[in-house]
Amino acid sequence: MSTSLLSNPVLYREPANKEFFREASIGLLQPQKTLPCKFLYDDQGSDLFNQICDLDEYYPTRTETAILRDNIREIAEVIGPGCRLVEFGSGTSTKTRMLLEHLADLASYTPIDISSAQLFDSCEQLGTEFPALEILPLAADYTDSLHLPESETPAQKVVAFFPGSTIGNFEPHEAVSFLRRIACLCGQHGGLLIGVDLIKDRRRLEAAYNDRKGVTAAFNLNLLARANRELGSDFDLGSFRHQAIYDEALGRIEMRLISLQPQVVRVANQEFFFDEDEYITTEYSYKYSLPKFTKLAQSAGFEVLNVWVDRNKLFSVQYLRVRSDGAVNR
Ligand code: AVI
Repeated sequence: MSTSLLSNPVLYREPANKEFFREASIGLLQPQKTLPCKFLYDDQGSDLFNQICDLDEYYPTRTETAILRDNIREIAEVIGPGCRLVEFGSGTSTKTRMLLEHLADLASYTPIDISSAQLFDSCEQLGTEFPALEILPLAADYTDSLHLPESETPAQKVVAFFPGSTIGNFEPHEAVSFLRRIACLCGQHGGLLIGVDLIKDRRRLEAAYNDRKGVTAAFNLNLLARANRELGSDFDLGSFRHQAIYDEALGRIEMRLISLQPQVVRVANQEFFFDEDEYITTEYSYKYSLPKFTKLAQSAGFEVLNVWVDRNKLFSVQYLRVRSDGAVNR
């Protein structure tokens, strides 16, 4: 038995975050224990992730920004005039601003983010910088089904923007379902500008997720700290260590929290047993070859129109167009 109900009801405290509790309980009961990566991003986690983006070893953010900067005119031309821009998981203001500055006759901009405070703050700021632009924020979990806010400005097409290679944090079958939903949302003539991290040598990949300053380790361990804060669990942060390994066969980085000793952790009314070296999987970050991502995009109802990469072929920015025949390659 890996779990038991505590007998003393007085000790039981209702977890503050029910969704996190439900998903954590399910994940920790699996033969391979997991905690869902979406819970990495509370205020502390988001702050640590912003620090990761500036690390020397973490090439994705600066490489993607440079690809966008170096090709922004061509990107704007390929997207074309009069689009409604919808950003999934906004907050990457430098990248967004480049698009807002260069897209011709932009009809409106809809940033979608789960954190309403951050969303409305950044919209206020953008409103002063782009006073003529209709900004229609949507505070939502973008993995749920979405209804875009009504716009006053007619658009020729809907174009989604999903930077950062966050698509890599989905398992490939989930990535296909998610991209299919984006294709439906964008509809005919619509498209998706997406950042996709590329397969590369193990050393570079593992360095990016095991940085020398230990920021990624703090980011990963914050998941346990968050569980302690929001679920009333008693994870001892000193008894777990961070590790990220690249699984070459599956083309993915796997982040883990490894138990340094045999231990029992209590999460609300449940106990979970850990052996020494047993680990919790906390995040996958899939890396793609260009042909593999093309296949994935096609199975979601897109065709790949353009691909921009950096000189060292570390990262790609791709423009996918919704297939006009509605065909989906399986
Ligand atoms: C958000 N996402 C694309 C990051 C990645 O590279 O998979 C999350 C991350 N995890 C550790 N470092 C960065």
